[in-house]
Amino acid sequence: MCGIVGYIGNKKAVPVLVNGLHCLEYRGYDSAGIAVLENNKIVVKKDKGRVANLDNMPGINDLEASIGIAHTRWATHGKPSMENSHPHMDNSNQFAVVHNGIIENYNELRAFLTEKGYHFLSQTDTEVIPNLIHYHYTKGVDCEDTFLGAIHAAVNDLKGSYALEVISNLFPDRVVVVRKDSPLVLGKGKEENYVASDIPAVLAYTKDFYLLEDNEYAVVYQDHVQFYDSNLVEHVKEVKVIEWDATAAEKNGYEDFMLKEIHEQPMAIRETIKNRLNLGEKCLFKDLAITKEYLQSLNKIYIVACGTAMHAGLVGKDAIEKLCKIPVEVDIASEFRYRDPIIDEKTLCIYISQSGETADTLAALKLAKRKGAKTLAVTNVIGSSITREADYTVYTYAGPEIAVASTKAYTSQVVLLTVLAVYFAELLGSYEEAKLEELKTEISGLPAKLETVLEEEKTLKDIAEKIYTEHDMYFLGRGSDYHVAMEGSLKVKEISYIHSEAYASGELKHGTIALIENGITVIGVLTNPELTPKSISNIQEVVSRGAKTLVVTNQDLANVSFDYVVRIPETNSLISPILSVVPLQLLAYYISKTKGLDVDKPRNLAKSVTVE
Ligand code: F6R
Repeated sequence: MCGIVGYIGNKKAVPVLVNGLHCLEYRGYDSAGIAVLENNKIVVKKDKGRVANLDNMPGINDLEASIGIAHTRWATHGKPSMENSHPHMDNSNQFAVVHNGIIENYNELRAFLTEKGYHFLSQTDTEVIPNLIHYHYTKGVDCEDTFLGAIHAAVNDLKGSYALEVISNLFPDRVVVVRKDSPLVLGKGKEENYVASDIPAVLAYTKDFYLLEDNEYAVVYQDHVQFYDSNLVEHVKEVKVIEWDATAAEKNGYEDFMLKEIHEQPMAIRETIKNRLNLGEKCLFKDLAITKEYLQSLNKIYIVACGTAMHAGLVGKDAIEKLCKIPVEVDIASEFRYRDPIIDEKTLCIYISQSGETADTLAALKLAKRKGAKTLAVTNVIGSSITREADYTVYTYAGPEIAVASTKAYTSQVVLLTVLAVYFAELLGSYEEAKLEELKTEISGLPAKLETVLEEEKTLKDIAEKIYTEHDMYFLGRGSDYHVAMEGSLKVKEISYIHSEAYASGELKHGTIALIENGITVIGVLTNPELTPKSISNIQEVVSRGAKTLVVTNQDLANVSFDYVVRIPETNSLISPILSVVPLQLLAYYISKTKGLDVDKPRNLAKSVTVE
């Protein structure tokens, strides 16, 4: 939900800002803009549309400035337009601001400022901020650094979430930043410093980062940074060295990030299980201080997340319940946070979030903490907001996921939850050791089996080219196959804009089967031998009503005829989703490609949903 970049240093700011925005475009792509200090004046270049519009915008590449801020927008208040694009300036053109987040009380602030004589050019919530800064600056603030003091006073008037960057021609040697409930990191260079919504945006320039906390301010100069708490008391902050490879966030020859990330799944799983699962030994989670006694005291586990991460939670539930014998409930974060769930100190709440920044998931976590439960975060982004709120954090090591549609994060989350379930079961002694060892062997074999599934890419491309004109699709499955069907259906919806629904196979005939008509595509996932005969019967029911069928299976279904069958390797049914989801990811990808859509940046979406 909006990406921001900032730079102050010894080189031209514009290329750094625009490159950074290109990396952050997954966070929003409705409009883009920059503001730099050129000859002691703020120069703004912005427009609606993609970041690429900035690449050759008239005059932009002539700007010599070495200080600036930048923004790529996911519209919340006001449609995508030049006026609503960031940066926004105050009426005197002395303060320029970029903002990621939402100002909830902007109507009141707008009315207040209007009464004081300010006027507004946009419909955004953000435009109140530079004007508020100007208001406090001219009124006078009780702070030695009057720029910081004015920003602090303005921020104290705001309700909502924000990551803000401010520059002013009155203070040409600094960028001031602050965050609350929206991410912001600072990259430390030599005689230069960077600001960004996430690490990969500036990873090409530095590996040394300061991870800003909620309500923390930073005044960023060319050669140093000063940090302040919410009362403007200065403090020292440690640099964190990020060992990611900068090229991990590049396409490396793939046409799209999504395809690259689908192919990275074997590696992502290897990295996620490394050092945690060793055959013949007990699983190990080094920094997870969870004891047998604590696990024994639990009467319930909640898994809470949104979208794809929630689908991973559904699969994780099966593993935890089966291996640990603890009841698990899975909930959507936006529902959980408002439904007063029954939680106490005997509940463990697990929150899954690739980005670690999803607003609803964070709010749901804070709720459980207030109710006395311990919270465990499963995330992919080091130092993300969720890691700072949760009692415990376990990371998936999938590497940066850039495509808006999540793929490798999902499979890494499922594998991590399964290894966690094995770890808990070993602590509890709740499952037969030999069977756990068999499961661990199967988990270790997943990367190789995934490589085999990826060999089906051409088949899926061919199928996609035959069915891409469909208007509706139905995904069916039982048990964890149903959960994979849900994920496959979401992938098709979000990147190919085809209406699709997922149903538990047995549920179809309780209403939805009325929609099945000649030629409609039904996709079945059949990986659990115990449930296969039942699922086959359900698919036959739609075949008799004229449906075309694609079946993803790990079994020999020679006696049954479907239009398309994609065969995947066999494995333990607790982890079969990690294999069976891949053909569905590839199918969605190639449908979207065949339709000529922007796979990595589907309409109306953003990678990181930092608003409610
Ligand atoms: C779909 C997708 C979303 C995310 C959801 C949660 O492909 O990516 O459904 O899974 O927005 O995001 P995180 O995991 O960052 O909390």
